[in-house]
Parts: sequence; structure tokens; C-alpha cells
Amino acid sequence: MTCALPAALVYGPKTMSRKKALLVSLLAFSTITLLLRQSTGHLGWFPKSPAFNCGPPPSSRPKHTAVAFLKTHKTASTTVQNLLFRFAERHNLTVALPHHACDHQFCYPRNFSARFVHPYTLPPRLIASHLRFNHDELRRLMPNDTVYITILREPVAMFESLFSYYNQYCPAFKRVPNGSMEVFLDHPHRYYRSHDKYAMYAHNTMVYDLGGDPDRSAEDPAYLAEFIRHVERIFSLVMLAEYFDESLVLLRRLLAWDLEDIVYVKLNMRSPESKLNITSARLADQIRAWNALDAGLYDHFNTTFWRKLDDVGQDCVRKEVDALHRACERLARHCFGGQPQLRPAMQIKNKDLRPWQPSAKVDIVGYDLPGSGPPLDEQCLKLVMPEVQYSRYLLRKQSLRNRRRGTPHRSLPPRGLVRTPRRPAPKVA
Ligand SMILES: *[C@@H]1O[C@H](CO)[C@@H](O)[C@H](O)[C@H]1NC(C)=O
Ligand SMILES: *[C@@H]1O[C@H](CO)[C@@H](O)[C@H](O)[C@H]1NC(C)=O
Ligand SMILES: *[C@@H]1O[C@H](CO)[C@@H](O)[C@H](O)[C@H]1NC(C)=O
Ligand SMILES: *[C@@H]1O[C@H](CO)[C@@H](O)[C@H](O)[C@H]1NC(C)=O
Ligand SMILES: *[C@@H]1O[C@H](CO)[C@@H](O)[C@H](O)[C@H]1NC(C)=O
Ligand SMILES: *[C@@H]1O[C@H](CO)[C@@H](O)[C@H](O)[C@H]1NC(C)=O
Repeated sequence: MTCALPAALVYGPKTMSRKKALLVSLLAFSTITLLLRQSTGHLGWFPKSPAFNCGPPPSSRPKHTAVAFLKTHKTASTTVQNLLFRFAERHNLTVALPHHACDHQFCYPRNFSARFVHPYTLPPRLIASHLRFNHDELRRLMPNDTVYITILREPVAMFESLFSYYNQYCPAFKRVPNGSMEVFLDHPHRYYRSHDKYAMYAHNTMVYDLGGDPDRSAEDPAYLAEFIRHVERIFSLVMLAEYFDESLVLLRRLLAWDLEDIVYVKLNMRSPESKLNITSARLADQIRAWNALDAGLYDHFNTTFWRKLDDVGQDCVRKEVDALHRACERLARHCFGGQPQLRPAMQIKNKDLRPWQPSAKVDIVGYDLPGSGPPLDEQCLKLVMPEVQYSRYLLRKQSLRNRRRGTPHRSLPPRGLVRTPRRPAPKVA
């Protein structure tokens, strides 16, 4: 049960003829579709969204389908991306995906450009892969009714996650003796160089992802205040990883989606053993001081987040969160006979479901499916499909649809595209 062809085959056009590449894509695509029980547009067994009696029911408006999700790093954003990908498939929406030369991120850490988008994924209604935010370029690409959303995470937990996840990629972390976070935080400037290739994983990563300057001195309060205003003007919703289910409730209301559109299984988590436990208040203070811009950003959006929850009404939020939990449990029971089993990647039999591993020192766990039983339906497999595999699958599916339609390549000139190295930018969040 595998569609994970070697990247060189899947991403063939450079090394083989277009015809041959198409054949390979077709084969890969039909393999996966054969293995899936095709399901219809929505989860047929899923009950209708309950009425919450909390203001006008969102379903009185048509669902909003033009969404730009800024996928930030290490913030539970892979789970949100998976939910958006599934939504797009159920509603036949085109998802903008990266050009081959950009790997599965839009040439991150470069500033996003509409040229990074694969021509077979134009014109999109949805975008949800990693990129460094650039509003002008996204406006060129996306429909004019696009709703912008993103997700942030409390900076101490986030830095711990970045430090362990990117310990093999980020030069600032590699330079630290014994890989010690304490040693790094005592003198970050000894190890951090703003011009290093992956410097942004070591300093104010959320501000960087949002297109801001992570190296601006926090002593200049005007910079952060202006930056926050800019983010507020563009983004209709800033979700928070700490309040994930409440965030989804706000998302569902904003977009007038159904409960079935926000069910999820948590993806791309580390095993508990791969986590440093930050118990010292001194260390937490040092992390916030070093990432002062991110800390200010988070605190601001945490304040406005709670105001938004108050606007909905804490009671309504609680009811909807409970309904979401019940829906997620029902889905897990339907798909996996209970919670799917978390496993280290190498113990997952189905290669399609093995999450990408950033380094030997960090275990990213994924899910295995029950060994026997009827073939999974498509929605269930997608629910636990890791980011890289799902992105490849969607690109193949959309490419085939596009080629069948005979749509001319609306390719933007690949000017300025550089090929990424073989084992490219660390991904995921
Ligand atoms: C999506 O496309 C499929 C096949 O073309 C069609 O059967 C289905 O009704 C469409 N669904 C929606 C929500 O448009
Ligand atoms: C990328 O965007 C930042 C922030 O908008 C800007 O300061 C910088 O000059 C841009 N970099 C390039 C190479 O265009
Ligand atoms: C958005 O685009 C549509 C069609 O592409 C156009 O008819 C409409 O006037 C545009 N709306 C705005 C506010 O620009
Ligand atoms: C690194 O670890 C070694 C052996 O555990 C220890 O002797 C040394 O002091 C450590 N270095 C730093 C800078 O903490
Ligand atoms: C951190 O805490 C978790 C849960 O308490 C534990 O399972 C894990 O082993 C700890 N990690 C380290 C590196 O000590
Ligand atoms: C977010 O704000 C709430 C309400 O002010 C507060 O109780 C909570 O501790 C904050 N969360 C974090 C992670 O800072």
C-alpha cells in the first residue's frame, strides 16, 4: 500500500520526458486511488451539525472557500493544513502548491512570490503550505475575497520545539557546545548570526514567518506596535496552539463551515522523550527576552483572542468545543475503531503514513492503521496522512485534472528560482 515513489520519479520533468513523467504520475495516482474506497463529497455517516443556539447559525451563510493560511513553524499548523487540504478535496477547491524547485514549501525562507506556485495549481482558492508572508504577492495569486488566517504559539514552548527540531539544521543551534539550550540562552549572540542560512529558526521565528524583521531591537517599541497593526489589518483570525479547539470554533464561525469541516487528528508531534521539559522560570524568562518580538506578538494576540471568545460567549464556545470533541471521537471510532495508534515512524508499516524525521535526535511520531479489516475510506487515510505525502498526492491529483482539461500552462516565468539542495529546507510545523 504505497504511493511514495522516490522523489526523483515523482518530480520527474527535469530528468525525464514530459510524457514519461505523466505516465509515472498516472501510475502513482491510480495506485493510491485503487487502494482507497472512494468516498463521496462528504462524510456520509456524519450527523448534521448540531444547532448551538448561539447567535445566527453560521450555516445560514454560504461556506467561505477562499482561504490563505499562513503556516507557521512548530505551532500545530500541520494539523490545520491537513484539515484545510481535506476541506479543499471535499469541495473541489484548487490548492496552490509549490513549484518542484521549491520543495513542499514555497521556497521558504525566501519571501513568498507568486512565481513559486506550481502552474497546475492555478488559479487557487486555498493556500496552506509554509511560506514567508508577502501580502502583495499573495494578493496577486489569490481571489479578492480571500480570508487570511494564521496560528501562533506561546514562545517558550515554541522555542523549545524549534531548538530540538532544528538542532541539525540551524547553525546557531549547531554551534552550541553539547547542544545545550541553557548554554545558548546565556549568550545567544555568541552562536546566532543573522545571515546564516536557517537563522530564522533561532530568533523570533513567528515574526519572520509573518514577513517581519526578527532582528529588530525590542527596545524600539514602535516597530512591534506597527507590525502588530499590520498583521491585524490583514488577518481575520490568529489562532493559538494552546487553545486549539477554541481556535477551530472561531475558524468555523468565521468561514461559516460545518462541524465536520473542522474534525481532526493531531499530526506531526514529537515523542515525549524528544521534548526538553522547561521547568525553570529563569530559562523561560531568557527565552522570552531573546524572542521579545515573538513574545510581544503572542501576548497581543492572546489578549484579542480572549476578547473574541467573549464576543461569542464563553458558554457557546464551551458547547461547541464539546461538540467538536465528540465529533472527533466519533470519527476516530469510525476510522480506526478508537484513537489511531501513535508510533515511531520506523514502526509504521504504511510508508505513506510515515512522517518526515528532522534528525536522528528527534522522534516525530505518526499513526499506524489497524492491520486488518476493510479498506479504509479515503477520508480516514487523509486524516492521518503526513504533510509531505499529502502535498505530493494533491499535486498529482490536480496536475492530472489540469492536464485532462487541457488547460494551457499558466506558468509564471520561473525567474529567480533556485534549485534547493537534495535534502532541502527542514519542513513542517
Ligand atoms: C466535486 O467534483 C465531483 C466530480 O467532478 C462531483 O461529483 C462532486 O459533486 C463535486 N462536489 C462539489 C462539492 O462540488
Ligand atoms: C523580504 O521581505 C522583507 C520584509 O518585507 C524585506 O525587508 C526584504 O528586503 C525582502 N527580501 C528580499 C530579498 O526581497
Ligand atoms: C473581485 O473579483 C471579481 C471577479 O474576479 C470582480 O467581479 C469583483 O468586482 C472584485 N471585487 C473587488 C472588491 O475587487
Ligand atoms: C559539555 O559536556 C562535557 C561533558 O559532559 C562537560 O565537561 C563540559 O563542561 C560541557 N560544556 C559546556 C560548555 O557545558
Ligand atoms: C519530559 O516530560 C515527559 C512527561 O512528563 C517525559 O515523558 C519525558 O521523558 C521528559 N523528557 C525529558 C527529556 O526528560
Ligand atoms: C492568554 O490570556 C489568558 C487571558 O488573559 C491568560 O489567562 C493566559 O494565561 C494566556 N495564555 C498564555 C499562554 O500566555
